[in-house]
Amino acid sequence: MNNPILPPAVIGIIGGGQLGMMIIREAQRMGYRSIVWDPDAECPASRLADETITAPFNDYAAAKRLAEQADVITYEFEHISPEIVEWLEQSKQVYPGSAILRSTQHRRLEKEELKRKGFPVVEYQPVLGKEGLWPCIELIGLPVVLKTSTAGYDGKGQTILRTKEEVREFLDQSKELAGECVIEKFIDLEYELSVVAVRGKDGFVTTFPVCENTHRDNILHTTIVPARVSENIQKEAVSLARSVMKAFNIVGVLCVEMFVTKEGKVLVNELAPRPHNSGHFSLDACDYSQFEAVVRAICGLPLHQPRLLKPCAMVNLLGKHLSVLDVNKLMMVTGIKLHLYGKKRLEPKRKMGHVTMLGDRIADVEKSVAFVKDLIGEAEQSSWQKIRYAATLTSS
Ligand SMILES: Nc1ncnc2c1ncn2[C@@H]1O[C@H](COP(=O)(O)OP(=O)(O)O)[C@@H](O)[C@H]1O
Ligand SMILES: [Mg+2]
Repeated sequence: MNNPILPPAVIGIIGGGQLGMMIIREAQRMGYRSIVWDPDAECPASRLADETITAPFNDYAAAKRLAEQADVITYEFEHISPEIVEWLEQSKQVYPGSAILRSTQHRRLEKEELKRKGFPVVEYQPVLGKEGLWPCIELIGLPVVLKTSTAGYDGKGQTILRTKEEVREFLDQSKELAGECVIEKFIDLEYELSVVAVRGKDGFVTTFPVCENTHRDNILHTTIVPARVSENIQKEAVSLARSVMKAFNIVGVLCVEMFVTKEGKVLVNELAPRPHNSGHFSLDACDYSQFEAVVRAICGLPLHQPRLLKPCAMVNLLGKHLSVLDVNKLMMVTGIKLHLYGKKRLEPKRKMGHVTMLGDRIADVEKSVAFVKDLIGEAEQSSWQKIRYAATLTSS
């Protein structure tokens, strides 16, 4: 058994976004120090880190500085070069390491590996150029989602192609595909779930409660915990996440995103070898969070099964939401916790913060979610609104 890395040791983090910031906040509470590496001097984590290295992610001098100062290293951002992580591994413990990074930052490799290891994935085909698109569509059938193999997140690099007409239009408009792509069968989803799992250096695996996620424009919008799905589906999701942790030999935190089809089949969508947006609820609603889980796992401290204290929901606050949000009204919601990441640049689709709402019953949580959605301009059309809309159409 490895000797634990104890406070006030220094935790090095590659990437200084909100995930890094939240890891640091938990690490600090536990007495650890931190050094963060990010190209942006004003990244969210720089507000809290003991030290910040401001340099591009391909800068070996920055990597050397990180290795010299940190006692253990993790990353909170997947689009960094696995080579530099491999280089760091020669002198320092880096978790979850370069191998999982290599596969998860490349959709085709990730899917191939998942499939090879026996995990159920969405039917897919690799596409190598514009001329490869039609033959692949013939194999899978429309509708499909075309995704770039690299650099995609929050729905970036994705196009839904529903009809032959849309495929033709897409091919006419685009000069060439943006690098290697995959097409996936577009699934008529019953649910989207995720499970944040953590595995220690001793191989102990545990999972956070199953999250039920909804996306808008392919970006996570809300998470409800516990997921409102059958016990069997919950069990299946947890079992898949546990198996992924073992099969990929992960030390640290990893999130498994899953699709549940109308037929009740649970498929692995993708893996994120870091804390995940859908796991933010754990900060306020669990006895320990996914961020503390990172610290415990990479420092070799004991892990135990996280407990959900109350039913809860998380709603993301994007730039477009902040511009209409009345924070004063928001804080009227009982059991609400506001998290803003302190980002200076406001873009409509940029993740600026989130709120968590706890309730005694899931029905209370659902009410709070509806209230918050209303405040951020994301309210679902209620049936009376739909009726009114229909009436307007008929009278015009
Ligand atoms: N094959 C699919 N069928 C239906 N919805 C999909 C499919 N692929 C992606 N989506 C939707 O888009 C979201 C983002 O896609 P994902 O593959 O997870 O990429 P990202 O890396 O952007 O998170 C998913 O959570 C889901 O809501
Ligand atoms: Mg995703």
